[in-house]
Amino acid sequence: MRKTKVGIIGLGSWGGCHLEAFRSMPQAEVVAICDRNEERVRELADRYSIAHAYTNSEELLARDDIELVSIATFESEHFAPAIEALRSGKHVLVEKPVTTKLAEAIEMQRTAEERGKFIVPGHLLRFEPRYADIREAIVSGRIGAPHSMYLKRARTKSMFRTYKRTHTVFELTVHDLDLAIWYAGSRVRTVKAYGKAVHDEVVPDILWSCLEFENGTLAFLHSNWMTPDEAGIVMNDSIEVIGANGTAQFANGGSDMQLLDARGRATPDYSIHHTRNGTSTGALREQLTYLCDCAAGGTAPSYVSFADAVHGIAVAEAIIRSCASGKEERPEA
Ligand SMILES: NC(=O)c1ccc[n+]([C@@H]2O[C@H](COP(=O)([O-])OP(=O)(O)OC[C@H]3O[C@@H](n4cnc5c(N)ncnc54)[C@H](O)[C@@H]3O)[C@@H](O)[C@H]2O)c1
Repeated sequence: MRKTKVGIIGLGSWGGCHLEAFRSMPQAEVVAICDRNEERVRELADRYSIAHAYTNSEELLARDDIELVSIATFESEHFAPAIEALRSGKHVLVEKPVTTKLAEAIEMQRTAEERGKFIVPGHLLRFEPRYADIREAIVSGRIGAPHSMYLKRARTKSMFRTYKRTHTVFELTVHDLDLAIWYAGSRVRTVKAYGKAVHDEVVPDILWSCLEFENGTLAFLHSNWMTPDEAGIVMNDSIEVIGANGTAQFANGGSDMQLLDARGRATPDYSIHHTRNGTSTGALREQLTYLCDCAAGGTAPSYVSFADAVHGIAVAEAIIRSCASGKEERPEA
């Protein structure tokens, strides 16, 4: 099997998962890693025997033996390494949100087209079997085209302390924007949104976004950081899609697995990224496998869409504007 040569930039909690997943895949060889935190990048390079470790992304991107770069830096620092990676002839997976500025998202898409390389957003829920099956049920006509959707994504209060560095719409809602755009098969015409900042002066930890698509589909997205840590539920998500011929729904308040100990209750998630015996399972691995296959086969990754991600960022900006203005807003792309 041909191995795609991979570089990873940003090795925090999620970049570390990229590394674990890539390292356990027969389709990938991790050639080099980079994090500006020298201690972190050294520790991971030693643990996984990776020969090349950098603290400056430009050094990694100067290598000509890397075909695919994963970018999992801070949300506001995706743009520069993504553009540089494309300019240096590499395919790119850029984590969500692809950026927090619409102009940058458009520039990323344009650069990829110009350079003949693919850039893919880290919207890995398209690879989670239940979300993927809902799309299949829409397209096949089993539930048919959606009239209405409700998508909820909730995380713990303590996670908000880290991730309030980015607006909730870019950190959480952006996943549901991608799903809603994918399911509706249309562009958002208008947005009305309501934010409530409970534990911060500026960033809302509760955000409701009502979307009306050009084809008439309605979507209501609810994101919050209000799950008490004591509940032991990392992901407290749910979805209901009402189509022309039926409804699809599920709730994901953790797995059936419950660990009860002196610290209370924990429900580990198995659907996104899980490791056992040095190998990984879950949507992240599915996404990375697909991208390595595309890179190795020279095919465009048509299952995912950077154009949808660009529109998602335009809608996210309209959501922020609507929270501030109290009015209906329209996305600018
Ligand atoms: N797809 C998903 O489901 C998913 C899940 C979690 C996080 N994410 C996304 O992944 C990204 C990273 O999140 P995280 O939770 O790992 O954050 P984190 O704070 O744990 O890690 C970020 C890392 O990037 C490094 N870094 C930042 N800017 C850099 C730069 N310019 N060059 C080199 N290194 C740099 C930091 O030193 C840090 O180690 C975010 O965009 C986040 O939204 C996606």
